[in-house]
Amino acid sequence: MNLREKISKKKAGIGILGLGYVGLPLACEFAQAGFKVTGIDIDRERIKRIKMGRHYIEDVGRREVTQLMKRGFLKPTSDFKALKGLDVIIICVPTPLRKTKEPDISYVVSAAKEIAKYLKNNQLVILESTTYPGTTREVILPILKETKKKFYLAFSPERIDPGNKEYTLRNTPKIVSGITKECARLAKALYKEVVDEVIIVSSTEIAEMVKLLENTFRSVNIGLVNEMALMCHRLGIDVWEVIEAAKTKPFGFMPFYPGPGLGGHCLPVDPHYLSWKLKTLDFYARFIELAGEINSKMPEFLVERIEDALNKKRKSLKGSRVLILGVAYKKDVSDTRESPALDVIKILQKKGVKVSYHDPHVSKLRLDRKVLRSKESPPLEKQDCVVIVTDHTAFNYPEIVKKAKLIIDSRNATKGIKNRKIVKL
Ligand SMILES: NC(=O)c1ccc[n+]([C@@H]2O[C@H](COP(=O)([O-])OP(=O)(O)OC[C@H]3O[C@@H](n4cnc5c(N)ncnc54)[C@H](O)[C@@H]3O)[C@@H](O)[C@H]2O)c1
Repeated sequence: MNLREKISKKKAGIGILGLGYVGLPLACEFAQAGFKVTGIDIDRERIKRIKMGRHYIEDVGRREVTQLMKRGFLKPTSDFKALKGLDVIIICVPTPLRKTKEPDISYVVSAAKEIAKYLKNNQLVILESTTYPGTTREVILPILKETKKKFYLAFSPERIDPGNKEYTLRNTPKIVSGITKECARLAKALYKEVVDEVIIVSSTEIAEMVKLLENTFRSVNIGLVNEMALMCHRLGIDVWEVIEAAKTKPFGFMPFYPGPGLGGHCLPVDPHYLSWKLKTLDFYARFIELAGEINSKMPEFLVERIEDALNKKRKSLKGSRVLILGVAYKKDVSDTRESPALDVIKILQKKGVKVSYHDPHVSKLRLDRKVLRSKESPPLEKQDCVVIVTDHTAFNYPEIVKKAKLIIDSRNATKGIKNRKIVKL
């Protein structure tokens, strides 16, 4: 049976490298569809938690994962020997930035080297990690070629939006590309098993760039609207009302919203992969740098607003009790990677503020060497200021407004509630 037939009969053994926010939901989707999936992660603790049904990724239910493991469709392991004999391997490892804002593709390289050790003829290898244009062809291809085996190599960017119930893996169109046309066709045949619409583009570089365009588009537009918020503040205009009115235009406008800053593993990171690559070609990506600059200043701006609001009440920032509501990087998720709340808390602490936080999704928060714990039922009335940093659905906003003395709302979460105690970004 050739690979295409194996895929269509769900007989292809699939391996997923990296069982994080991207890899675990993908592994479950293929396992649900009837494939035997092996999930491999270097983090033994993570594998242990998944096996015990205690993983923390919201997009897949703990019971679902446990059931898939029991029925033999999902096998999590830290042992790379499990790569032996698989037909398809999908790489979903992290692609972070170094402190110097340069791409760190060491995880991708080490994943490719592990795959090369066990590569068998006619295996399909797909990279899903977000990266700069050229990675698949210039970095992965040479590593696999050294094995002298015949293999297929593809790139397909992950478009998952954690916590989004409307657009899931199944109904979000998937972009695929391959080193050859056959590589792309095979990758399409595979993803068609779990995604409704699969689109082939002509090269791996195009597919890599598609993902960077999508995320740069968001980062730049958020940067623009954040700057609008700064300008509106100077002008004494309500930026939220401006956006609400502008979005009534049925064409040529798409609403983006200001906030405390960019967070998550993607938006603050991915555009820098592109600007780094361009720097090697003597091109300075101005939009990316400017958006990064504005977005990263938002936590400071939010702290300024808190300081001003307390000042009006004749209170100094130093010594005040400030409760942060929501520390995840966006609503209804538990991910705190690059969350602007971390910066807001650090700045406040440096200024002598007594900071605490409440987040129903994040029970503890590591800040440098200290660990903060979420206050379960914080006494709102005892705070000098309550700051809405992440607009989780679980928060009872009318109650917060009723009890708190002063509310700084950085997300317009109190939309529709009129009260002089509320200060919006
Ligand atoms: N999180 C998102 O919303 C999102 C969305 C789209 C794309 N992406 C991209 O997908 C990729 C993965 O992101 P994530 O959020 O799932 O990361 P993550 O940190 O949640 O998970 C990655 C996992 O890979 C494991 N790992 C690292 N090196 C490994 C190796 N050599 N072999 C096996 N496992 C290894 C880590 O231990 C970790 O568990 C990144 O490139 C990211 O930019 C993420």
